[in-house]
Amino acid sequence: MSNVIEVFFSPSSTTKKVVEQVSSNFDGNKETYDLLNFNDSKEFSGTDIAIVGMPVFAGRIPKSGRARLEKIKGNNTKAIAIANYGNAHVSDALLELVEILRENGFDVLAAATTVSHHSIFDGVAVGRPDSDDIEKINEFAKKCIGKIESGESLESEIPGNKPYVDYKQLPFEISCDESICAFCYDCVSICPEKAIPDDDPISTDLDLCSRCTACINICPEDARKFSGDAFEAKKPEFESANSERKEIEFFL
Ligand SMILES: Cc1cc2nc3c(=O)[nH]c(=O)nc-3n(C[C@H](O)[C@H](O)[C@H](O)COP(=O)(O)O)c2cc1C
Ligand code: SF4
Ligand code: SF4
Repeated sequence: MSNVIEVFFSPSSTTKKVVEQVSSNFDGNKETYDLLNFNDSKEFSGTDIAIVGMPVFAGRIPKSGRARLEKIKGNNTKAIAIANYGNAHVSDALLELVEILRENGFDVLAAATTVSHHSIFDGVAVGRPDSDDIEKINEFAKKCIGKIESGESLESEIPGNKPYVDYKQLPFEISCDESICAFCYDCVSICPEKAIPDDDPISTDLDLCSRCTACINICPEDARKFSGDAFEAKKPEFESANSERKEIEFFL
């Protein structure tokens, strides 16, 4: 029986949830590579099935997620690619993910864009993936299983542009409330950019920080958050512009 390999980079945990939902439709032993915690080289065997999820950051794959995924070699392993976004736009992220996988020796048989709660603007896509999304994710997984059984490859063209859109760093500040920080250093350990100094979890080096949200989500005290004038000014405008529900799309 094939091993089912779950691979994701998921700072606020929704991409993990989507990958696990797809995976729940498959039989077989499960192996999980959480790329926030896994930064090593790895080779899969051609008999495995990989379900690979990445969040969309500024229309691209997060740089750290990309760098970590590039260390994983497929050796012709079948792969399902998922770009998970916050109801705004996917731009070139799914194309970028599919191309990274192919370059690393994966045989991509299907791909999807899924919608989840926006990890920065928390008024967008609240509660997603919801029960309707889960139903569609299960439908997608069943189509993938059908393709594996029939040996079909990916036939659909993946939308996106080459060269990919330039990655734009967001201008928002991340602050930490010293009065509630418990100095557990979980944020220091999880930060993929080493943007929080080892001896000072109150600070964030905004030149290094990708605004990925991992430190905000891991903090047991809710001490870290987006803040500042640029963020407060953008939030209502962004939330109103992206209030219309977008749906999961399959590429088979
Ligand atoms: C730095 C950053 C940039 C983002 N850019 C986009 C984007 O271009 N389009 C979009 O729809 N959502 C965007 N989002 C929202 C995430 O793609 C979305 O919330 C996703 O569910 C996050 O996945 P995670 O929960 O696994 O971290 C962005 C989030 C972050 C943190
Ligand atoms: S400091 Fe920035 S890069 Fe580091 S975990 Fe927090 S949001 Fe992500
Ligand atoms: S995770 Fe939260 S409580 Fe722990 S050190 Fe970081 S900011 Fe402080």
